[in-house]
Amino acid sequence: MFEQLSPARPDAILALLGLFRADPREDKIDLGVGVYRNPERQTPVMTAVKAAERRILDAQTSKSYLGLAGDEEFNTVLSSLLLADALDTTRTRAIQAPGGSGAIRILAELLSEARPGATVYISDPSWPNHWPMVTASGLRPKTYPYFDTATRGIRFDAMMETLAEASAGDIVLLHGCCHNPTGANLDSGQWAAIADLIVETGLLPFIDIAYQGFGDGLDSDAAGLRTLARTVPELVVGASCSKNFGVYCDRVGLALVIGKNSGVADTAVGQLKSIARRSYSMPPNHGAATVRTVLGDSALRRQWLDELDAMRDRMLRLRANLADELRRASNSETFDFIKSHRGMFSLTGLTRSEVDRLREDHAIYMVGDGRINVAGLPDDRLDYLAESIVRVSQDS
Ligand code: LMR
Repeated sequence: MFEQLSPARPDAILALLGLFRADPREDKIDLGVGVYRNPERQTPVMTAVKAAERRILDAQTSKSYLGLAGDEEFNTVLSSLLLADALDTTRTRAIQAPGGSGAIRILAELLSEARPGATVYISDPSWPNHWPMVTASGLRPKTYPYFDTATRGIRFDAMMETLAEASAGDIVLLHGCCHNPTGANLDSGQWAAIADLIVETGLLPFIDIAYQGFGDGLDSDAAGLRTLARTVPELVVGASCSKNFGVYCDRVGLALVIGKNSGVADTAVGQLKSIARRSYSMPPNHGAATVRTVLGDSALRRQWLDELDAMRDRMLRLRANLADELRRASNSETFDFIKSHRGMFSLTGLTRSEVDRLREDHAIYMVGDGRINVAGLPDDRLDYLAESIVRVSQDS
């Protein structure tokens, strides 16, 4: 039977991880997959997370099923972390999902059930997994202009023009903060203008928020989402705790729906649970219980916030230092944009062949579209990195 299958197309980000692991060069640098690294190049378990895990281990008396919504207390605390005072509990419902990706996938299926074959506007560019997830759910992906390769900012007018042409019931997928892969983010005025446009056109916003706290701060990073939640009649959110709690392999995410009223919200979450049931049944609990324990205890929450602040400060410092090194190596301001971008990633503007040369000749790994993981930058080798980037871009 399987001879009927054609080989799967490798995922651009995960394939790179395999290549990096197989490379015997000791001084290799991994700027590929989005995981946070400390100055020792490790992705450690956060101290607050470790402490919460110990508590859970000691207190746990059963591993019986929790149900399709997963850990309800996690759902409540994470909904508050995302929406704060924009949370209207009468028409907001959420279920735990296996990671942010799991949340995106079941929400896409929910949207497909509500509106079969609907068009989903996706930023150009976007996280490469958005397209296959949307397509596999029966929806129709289409791009909206986003990144301006000349200014390294956002083509906001072009984005708004495209979205203004959308039909009521179409969907717009927006990155809540820390845009992946570009690092260029909407400001508060732009979020407000998008919220108004959504109300005018009848578009449904689908927010992917995977890096809350990695850009400017927990609240600033969710400000756009909160503006939408206060303004639009309905929206869906797929949230991830992989990065801000460092619980990548525990798969912790939330699928949240805001309906026009509480009855509609109940129906939507009921359908979402059915989709979960037929996909994976129930989500894993350990990571969600850990996050819920951290957020529910004032001392652990304080400790986690301090650790999160330190991670963000480190990424901002690395951005500034790399931009300085690139300025020195190129004798130009070409790469200064790295300093103004936010989050884990920046799109460098390097071409595919320049990226290949960096990998082959300099053991520097970045995604084929030129995306770098800022949190993977090596503190003590930024000069080497900058010189290598400038060399390949000048040679081509
Ligand atoms: C990334 O973009 O590197 C992360 O979101 C990890 C992934 O699953 O692609």
